[in-house]
Amino acid sequence: MIDDKIIEDLQKQIDELKAASQQQVEEIRVKMLGKKGEITRLFEEFRTVQADQKRLYGQKLNTLKNNMLSKLEALKASVENQEGPKGPAEDLTLPGDRMPLGARHPISIVREEILSIFKKFGYSVAEGPEIEDDWHVFSALNFPPEHPARDMQDTFFINNQTANNILLRTHTSSVQVRTMESQSLPIRVVCPGRVFRNEAISARAHCIFHQVEGLYIDKNVSFADLKQSILLFAQEMFGADTKIRMRPSYFPFTEPSAEVDVSCNICKGKGCSICKGTGWLEILGCGMVDPNVLIANGIDPEVYSGFAFGMGIERIAMLKWQVNDLRHYFENDVRFLREFETVI
Ligand code: PHE
Repeated sequence: MIDDKIIEDLQKQIDELKAASQQQVEEIRVKMLGKKGEITRLFEEFRTVQADQKRLYGQKLNTLKNNMLSKLEALKASVENQEGPKGPAEDLTLPGDRMPLGARHPISIVREEILSIFKKFGYSVAEGPEIEDDWHVFSALNFPPEHPARDMQDTFFINNQTANNILLRTHTSSVQVRTMESQSLPIRVVCPGRVFRNEAISARAHCIFHQVEGLYIDKNVSFADLKQSILLFAQEMFGADTKIRMRPSYFPFTEPSAEVDVSCNICKGKGCSICKGTGWLEILGCGMVDPNVLIANGIDPEVYSGFAFGMGIERIAMLKWQVNDLRHYFENDVRFLREFETVI
């Protein structure tokens, strides 16, 4: 039941309320506005008010509640004044609490470093989707249909009811294909990104890692340009006295292809445990873009030529900081990440 008398009585009570401590203020709050408080109860009973009276009593109840809230504020303030400050006043000369700053992830640091070197060389950055189709990851890159990289062993395929050629990209060469589709020549891009391969996780391999791949297509691009670009990159990345060596290799999308080693920057080529006594460390794969790739992407190989390269960011980071276990990069243990706080 709600009537004017009940509301008036409560208002009177509110007006006369007094409190001597914070605790009493809290008790008053519970008594009036707590779950079983008197004002709360009135709000519950509001359901029983006749429809034509709802508007009137709704307003009255709200006013009552607001008065109660103001009264509580007033009581609180007066109690605080009475109680005075507890203990000594704040010492404003004390240093503030330091906000712990996050650090950039080592993979991000190296990624930015690689990209900034190639940006200096005139490359722009291109990114693309991680979920790809067979064309962009394999077919447009001259992978024969039976090539083992398409095999379930290496590639994560995505079950899809309408298409059976959807997969997680195994390299960011797919972005190079997308660039050839969408940009006019000449092309000079670097493509950073996450890639996926169905590998057992160990200190030296992971099913997710990061790459930066590059593509340069223009008239008269030669293997000498490729070699010089990689040498300059290696010297920017690992130091001005870094040497490179190229070993013949095979990739479906480049011909000729090479793997590139840099002189070990730890033992300066003398041989140590990091370079396994050879004085050399492998950093990337590269080669001249195979004419079949140019044709598949609508580029005339009689007029244009190009080179491509690709490297794993984790690998470069491991060499840079001598991290001996790839898994550290993915576990995000703050003790590991903090090691890089001062790097930036
Ligand atoms: N796409 C190759 C890989 O992921 C790397 C590469 C890129 C090699 C370009 C040659 C040229 O292993």
